[in-house]
Amino acid sequence: MIRVNENYLKLQAGYLFPEISRRVSAFAGENPKANIIRMGIGDVTEPLVPAVVEAMHKAVDEMGDRATLKGYGPEQGYDFLRQAILDNDYKSRGVDLALDEIFVSDGSKCDTGNIQEVFGLDNTIAVTDPVYPVYVDTNVMAGRTGTPLTNGQYGGIVYMPCTPSNQFVPQFPSEPVDLIYLCYPNNPTGAVATKEQLSRWVDYARKNQAVILFDAAYETYISDPSIPHSIYEVPGARQVAIEFRSFSKTAGFTGLRCAFAVVPKDVVAYAKDGKAVRVNPLWNRRHCTKFNGASYISQAAAAAVYTADGKTQSRRIIDLYMTNAAIIRQSLSKLGYEVYGGINAPYVWITTKNRMGSWEFFDLLLRKIHVVATPGAGFGLAGEGFMRLSAFNRPEKVKEAMERFSTL
Ligand code: MLT
Repeated sequence: MIRVNENYLKLQAGYLFPEISRRVSAFAGENPKANIIRMGIGDVTEPLVPAVVEAMHKAVDEMGDRATLKGYGPEQGYDFLRQAILDNDYKSRGVDLALDEIFVSDGSKCDTGNIQEVFGLDNTIAVTDPVYPVYVDTNVMAGRTGTPLTNGQYGGIVYMPCTPSNQFVPQFPSEPVDLIYLCYPNNPTGAVATKEQLSRWVDYARKNQAVILFDAAYETYISDPSIPHSIYEVPGARQVAIEFRSFSKTAGFTGLRCAFAVVPKDVVAYAKDGKAVRVNPLWNRRHCTKFNGASYISQAAAAAVYTADGKTQSRRIIDLYMTNAAIIRQSLSKLGYEVYGGINAPYVWITTKNRMGSWEFFDLLLRKIHVVATPGAGFGLAGEGFMRLSAFNRPEKVKEAMERFSTL
């Protein structure tokens, strides 16, 4: 008899963003005239920049010609893109990596979700609370967690609370952990980690033979020059950290798909007999077996982001989103909300009105002012009483949403 993977039955709610869409669609169905402003999921509103569009047109023409057609590409990505990544994202910041430490993919959601496969099921994972739900759910699916608890958390996971009192950067867990998920600039709180804070985490991982999975999907939004864009800016990180980056939020690729993971050859995990095993060949093996590479067109588009025109044009869009973030911050602080993030990240994290529950506030915003935001509780227990607002929007819509908030 065919059996189900029982781990899937442990998953509690539906995935956060489809659940929000479901509620919004139901409301829109009942209120077809409501002019809904969506500040929930962090999805881009600005079109691909001209340098990217031009590169894609060229790539399409190549694909339409037998002489230049590209079939299956290298699973790890084309060297032209991997070299551009090395030069622009890493060498420029004093980080030396090799081409075969870069693995191009179709998204950081997939990479951060899949990476756990190369680590043993008996590892203890540690996540921040609140957290990007993918890190937790993929470990539940894999069977690395216990049963769900009544508070919505899972047994077997170590949750590290991130609150205003620790500036949303966690303390070390009191019990031993093996796999540590960190995301900075942070989704959902918009907080950043300083070089000192990251150094402490790198030291912790080295001392405890742990691995840090560092999600840097929002690094391009960092404006403070003292904040590291990559964990490899911290000495010793290449022994213990794997980093994830994406073109989704950097260059508006949410609908196009291109990202990459960095797996340095120094990162090791241990076999039962205590032997150190390099993780890079394991990830390479997984990639080659389960993935045929991001499309040539996406990779040509991604390489165009690193051209002089691509950089200038993309920066303009980042600036537009960050102007939105500033408007959200200013307007909501004036209205008396506690406001966090939104300075080095495209997310603003606010307290709910009168400290009501996050989902209750979600409903209030949707029903009263037709604004969609993401309930903090959807990211974890410590997110209760908070709301996340995304700055990915048209400036006029953000201004309109802020006016509507003032009527609440
Ligand atoms: C978010 O809103 O948290 C992100 O857009 C989700 C994602 O990148 O998968």
